[in-house]
Amino acid sequence: MVAEVGPWAKEKLEILARYLDFYTKVLKNQPWRTLYVDAFAGGGRAKVRNKNEPISTPGLLETPDTQDSEQTEFLDGSPRVALGIANPFSRYVFIEPAPKRAEELSGLEAEFGDSRQITTLRLPAAEGIAWVTTQAISKSKHRGVAFLDPFGARLEWSSVQSLADTGLFEVVVNFALNMAINRMLPNDGNVPVAWAETLDRYFGSHEWFDEVYSSAAHGLFASTEIRKRDDYSVRLLELYRRNLKSAFGFVSTPRLICNTRGAPLYYLLWAGPHRKGLEGADYILRMGDKLPKVRKGST
Ligand SMILES: C[S@@+](CC[C@H](N)C(=O)[O-])C[C@H]1O[C@@H](n2cnc3c(N)ncnc32)[C@H](O)[C@@H]1O
Repeated sequence: MVAEVGPWAKEKLEILARYLDFYTKVLKNQPWRTLYVDAFAGGGRAKVRNKNEPISTPGLLETPDTQDSEQTEFLDGSPRVALGIANPFSRYVFIEPAPKRAEELSGLEAEFGDSRQITTLRLPAAEGIAWVTTQAISKSKHRGVAFLDPFGARLEWSSVQSLADTGLFEVVVNFALNMAINRMLPNDGNVPVAWAETLDRYFGSHEWFDEVYSSAAHGLFASTEIRKRDDYSVRLLELYRRNLKSAFGFVSTPRLICNTRGAPLYYLLWAGPHRKGLEGADYILRMGDKLPKVRKGST
């Protein structure tokens, strides 16, 4: 079954296309080999959900197939977006553990033949990124972009840090604040252990807890009351941005992606080691929803 995405996925992919276009143009006449790593690659194509169709479980791709075939619109996923840019990367690495989607990606290797150098890794992102960062790559010979677009909070900070440690990668990250992270934060502060461990891995420490909850001594016997802060969402976003800045050197302004009713879903963030990349990323991320259509298939 072809994956299904909300109409807002177009906005994300148009921003990605614009950034990859900017990046590869800037590096076009430079001596480095360029790498594109898609750590949560998905399949080659997705079906765009009709905006009037009810969403029973926002954030999950699979929903019942209720669309009229005449209305069906397909969207190139991020791997095809990256393969389709005018100045291709020297090498593409697609990481995807789901067998059907990994198979679709292997199909891209055959489809593009010698015109693109593609490696598909049927692995979870953490293992795929570990593979990438232990290849013979160096700052003197390579430059790269990693697109980190997980469902929810499946991106581990240690993977992001290892990309930063190479000194040659920039990242475009889907920070799934409203689609996933906020749903793991009950008002009373009793975060189930498994969720707390996921968030620890996602943020790289337990700092998120104090950004979300405050505690105050309460009553005669000074019992401690845990309260969820009113501004916890902004605090979490800023915590993640601070982490990115300290790992990479530069971090963009966040770009909020909303659903068709205007409800916030997630943020796109860029981080990297160069000011020039920051200027390009900020410009593209701020372009609002007036993005001109940049390529066939992503509209
Ligand atoms: C949001 S989708 C990616 C969409 C794709 N980047 C695009 O824009 O076309 C997330 C993908 O991550 C895959 N995935 C789930 N867990 C993963 C993990 N631990 N490591 C890597 N990929 C994972 C899912 O199978 C899914 O295809």
